[in-house]
Amino acid sequence: MAEDILFPLIPEPIWSALASLQVQLDQENLNPRICNILNQSVLTGGKRLRPMLTLLMGDLFGLAPEVMAASARDIERIHAATLAHDDVVDEASERRGRPSINSSSSNKKAILAGDYLLAQVLKDVAEKGDPRIVFELAQVIADLVEGEWLQIENARKFTLAELDLTFADVERVALKKTGSVLRWCCVAAGLLSGGDEETIGLCRRFGEALGIAFQWGDDILDFTREDQARGADLKTGVISSVFL
Ligand code: FPP
Ligand code: MG
Repeated sequence: MAEDILFPLIPEPIWSALASLQVQLDQENLNPRICNILNQSVLTGGKRLRPMLTLLMGDLFGLAPEVMAASARDIERIHAATLAHDDVVDEASERRGRPSINSSSSNKKAILAGDYLLAQVLKDVAEKGDPRIVFELAQVIADLVEGEWLQIENARKFTLAELDLTFADVERVALKKTGSVLRWCCVAAGLLSGGDEETIGLCRRFGEALGIAFQWGDDILDFTREDQARGADLKTGVISSVFL
């Protein structure tokens, strides 16, 4: 497995920083009921791949894990906020083996909780004082919404047997939904290290390419896995790269 090859290459300080990353919300000065519901669902578990990439990119630019920790946490929280919304869009009942917020509470509360989490991240990022990082994050959020939107349109095109659904349509969804988030993981380190425009541009391209590759891997896994989750994309109407 790729993890068996890659994980031993990751430096120990990165593992320690990941283990101590405070992704769950601290209730102080926040609404405790919204915090609880988020902490017990979308902010629990997960492979923490996005924080790992953020910390590794920091390492590449010579930035210590402590410098990158807030960004690593922020992008995981953004991802979690989108999952709260995504479970409403998908009418999901579970997330990471637990009841999703929409099923344990309601669609309304899942949307509001996702928005609340998003707002906490925006406050946090704004406090760092670099408007370029805030701008990059706003672009990720716009891309995520657009990616989900395009995915719905692709499914509709497919159902109507329209012949103009192309691989480029499916790739665009991967770029917007997965590439955008990994782009931010890479760009954050570039910006925090004071990289020039060319370097920042390369960070963007690397993150997006990695995101698309990651999504293709996920699509293949959906098709080849042998547990109950096999073929979930098709069952939920997602036209994946493999299926197309
Ligand atoms: C998971 O996809 C979903 C995403 C990566 C993003 C979805 C984005 C939105 C719903 C918009 C969010 C907007 C804001 C403002 C936060 P999936 O359904 O393919 O994966 P899954 O199997 O984990 O559900
Ligand atoms: Mg989903």
